[in-house]
This record gives sequence, C-alpha cells and structure tokens, in this order.
Amino acid sequence: MDIKGMVFQELKASKKYRYVCEDTLQRIAGWAVERYDAKKAVKAAKNKLHQVYGAYFEKMNIDKIREQLDKLAGAGTPDETAFKTAALTIMKHHTSTAERLPFMEQFYADLFARIGKPRKILDLACGLNPFSVPWMGLGPGVEYIAIDIDTRLMAAINTYFKYLGGSYIARCWDILVSLPQEAEEADVVFLLKTLPCLEQQDKGISEKLIKALKAKYMVISFPSKSLTGKSRGMAGHYNRFILEIFDKLGLGHFKMEYANEVFYIVNSNNSCG
Ligand SMILES: C[S@@+](CC[C@H](N)C(=O)[O-])C[C@H]1O[C@@H](n2cnc3c(N)ncnc32)[C@H](O)[C@@H]1O
Repeated sequence: MDIKGMVFQELKASKKYRYVCEDTLQRIAGWAVERYDAKKAVKAAKNKLHQVYGAYFEKMNIDKIREQLDKLAGAGTPDETAFKTAALTIMKHHTSTAERLPFMEQFYADLFARIGKPRKILDLACGLNPFSVPWMGLGPGVEYIAIDIDTRLMAAINTYFKYLGGSYIARCWDILVSLPQEAEEADVVFLLKTLPCLEQQDKGISEKLIKALKAKYMVISFPSKSLTGKSRGMAGHYNRFILEIFDKLGLGHFKMEYANEVFYIVNSNNSCG
C-alpha cells in the first residue's frame, strides 16, 4: 500500500472521522502526503479534517438528533407542529443554523419574494440547514437536494425528509472532488457560510466554484457576528473578499442583511460583464 493509502486507512479507522465521505478522506490524505512525510502526514490530515469538519460536527450529537427523529416516528403521523419542534431542537446542534433561527423564516420569505419560487434548490455543504425546509414555504413539486460530507448526518436528513414527504434528498458528496449533477439543473444554489471553510481546504476555490455553478441564482452567505455578538470586522472582510470575485467574474448581485449573517444573491443571467 502506498503512503496515501495508509493515511486514508488510518483516517477511515479513526473514531472521529470514520463517518466522513470517503472521497473527502482520500482528498485530505492526498493533500497531507504532498506536504508531509509518512510520519507526520496522518497528524496533518487529522488537523486539517478538524479544521474543516470536526470543528462543526464535534458539537453535534448525532444520537440526540436521532432521538428527535425517533420521537417523530413514534408520533404515528406527525403534524407540522411536531416537525417544527423537532427541527428547531436539531438545528441548535450546529452554530451556523443556531445563529440563523431568529430570522430564518423572514429570510426565506424575503428571498423568494425577490427571486420567485424555485423549482429545484441545491444546498451545498448544507450542515443542518435542510431541517429548515418547513420554514421555506416551498410548496408541492419543488425539489431540494442537500449535500454534505457526513454519512450519519445525510442519513438523518433523509429520515426527516421521508416524514416531510416532498421531493427532497440528502447525499454524501465532496464538492471539492466534483460537483453533483444537480449543479447543472438547479435554479437556486445555496452556499451558506461555506466559502471560508472551502478556502481553508483549497485557497482560491470560491472563484472557481462560483464560475462553475450554472444555477440561475446563487445565494452566498457569511457570518457577520459570532454567537456572542462580537463582529471583529468580519462583515467588512468577507464583503471585500466576495466583491472582488464578483468583479472579476462580472457578476451582478444584491445583498440581504440580518442580525448576524449577510447574504449575497447572484443572478447569473444578469451579469454585468
Ligand atoms: C460552516 S458549515 C455551514 C453549514 C450550512 N451551510 C449552514 O450555513 O447552516 C460548513 C459545512 O461545510 C461542509 N463541508 C466542508 N467541506 C466540504 C466539502 N468539501 N464538500 C461538501 N461539504 C463540505 C461541512 O461539513 C459543514 O457542514
């Protein structure tokens, strides 16, 4: 077995990373062996995985999430109140969604009032955001595809989607390895609070990704304040970062701002270049 294969096996055997999409483990193993010798590569790969995945998923207690879903199953045919109660509890497990809870309903109402109701939504690096589907007001027939790199989370989301009963699906997929087929078909792509995490894995990837996505609308967001209310110049920093990319690619956009998150909505058909 080559060194990359050995690093991959170690990651796959580790308690913390065994549930990460295998493509991601292969990619990070490759990243590590390109930079470090065999001895240090496993440690470097684990550090990188902690930075881009572990830091988010550590606080997430998947058993507690399953508990909520089991409660729904035990409720026979759960109604909307039951879904929403379970989903609110679940979304508190991940900082990104927890921070969005106070304004998520307003955000989706504002968003779809501006861009119209989509037919197909692709939520890239979704985290727990798919649990907010009942607040999106999607209506019948709308497809929603959620993508992230944790197999347990994707299974939990699919269980939840089964209860919701729409055309919704979650898939374990590494968007730095390739884009899913739906990237060609969706009319709205969500990239919520995700670009900084992708940049930590592949510097310069945001520009390439935005260029490659063919959706009519891209909804890109950044945190502007942490949960403790500290801003530390975050909004200004991300604003400069994303505007430079839009400028380079000649993309027009409009902005929507809420308590702790700023959304940039790009209409690819309305480029200014
Ligand atoms: C800050 S969280 C954002 C979660 C969600 N979009 C939200 O705003 O609620 C970043 C997410 O990116 C996911 N992620 C990181 N690298 C990824 C990759 N290469 N492909 C797909 N998802 C990835 C992580 O697992 C994590 O759930």
